[in-house]
Amino acid sequence: MKQLRKAVLPVAGLGTRFLPATKAIAKEMLPVVDKPLIQYSIEEARAAGIEQFCLVTGRGKTALIEHFDIAFELEATLRERNKKEALASLKQAAAVPGTILSVRQQEPHGLGHAIWCARAFIGDDPFAILLPDDLVLAETPCMKQLAEAYEQTRGNIVAVSEVPREHTNRYGILKIGRDDGRLVEVKGLVEKPAPEQAPSNLSIIGRYVLMPEVIDHLAQMERGSGGEVQLTDGMARLIGVQPFHGLRFEGRRFDCGDKLGFLEAQIAFALNRPDMAPGVRGFLKKYGV
Ligand code: G1P
Repeated sequence: MKQLRKAVLPVAGLGTRFLPATKAIAKEMLPVVDKPLIQYSIEEARAAGIEQFCLVTGRGKTALIEHFDIAFELEATLRERNKKEALASLKQAAAVPGTILSVRQQEPHGLGHAIWCARAFIGDDPFAILLPDDLVLAETPCMKQLAEAYEQTRGNIVAVSEVPREHTNRYGILKIGRDDGRLVEVKGLVEKPAPEQAPSNLSIIGRYVLMPEVIDHLAQMERGSGGEVQLTDGMARLIGVQPFHGLRFEGRRFDCGDKLGFLEAQIAFALNRPDMAPGVRGFLKKYGV
């Protein structure tokens, strides 16, 4: 079995739900407390032993690459002013040289197309996908939970959670086989089915471990839900051919592509930090919370 060492992060989206904030900056650069969404994803992947990253970017997304570079002048100024904490936070954001690559998704043809754009990076290796919009607050980072499940099942794994029936049309949905309450055998996958057609209410959240063969299916460029090349459809082709499981991960997931979800994440992540929690509790009281 090959070790999981690579992650693909699709970040070419236009961020239309956050306009005008995302007119001139990438939505993945929006901060939750004091770190941009993209950095949470990279740190989560690193905690799972992943060492190589491919950002699938688009026009106007150069800040994402800049963010992981070394800001020499800024560091020198902070050192001069003896700002130790600020310096340490910069060091945490810098990448090990040569570990973050980027490719461009030139046209928005869907998530499956974005992953296909990273095919040269993926090669013959298993790889993780993290969608930075999905933020997970967990004791054991969500991707680490998936990586451990991959070692156990030696196949494809997606992180899953139950959603209200009326929301199945927002997610990739599983048709479930054997289910031990944590690991679920995947019998089928449907992208954004209407509630009455959904095979379950178990949805994919933005964390995956996939085998490289999925690329061959994505390369067919078949259009699915919304007229886009869907990752879910490519993955569905692997069912019955390779092991495929869903993992009910432990932790709380926040949809940061949605305004309310993003605000909730701010509060939850701030309350989870010892330096912030007392202050946040204090101001929440003012609003009668
Ligand atoms: C994508 C996937 C979907 C998955 C979701 C998780 O949808 O296509 O299967 O459930 O991410 O966030 P999107 O949110 O890009 O529409």
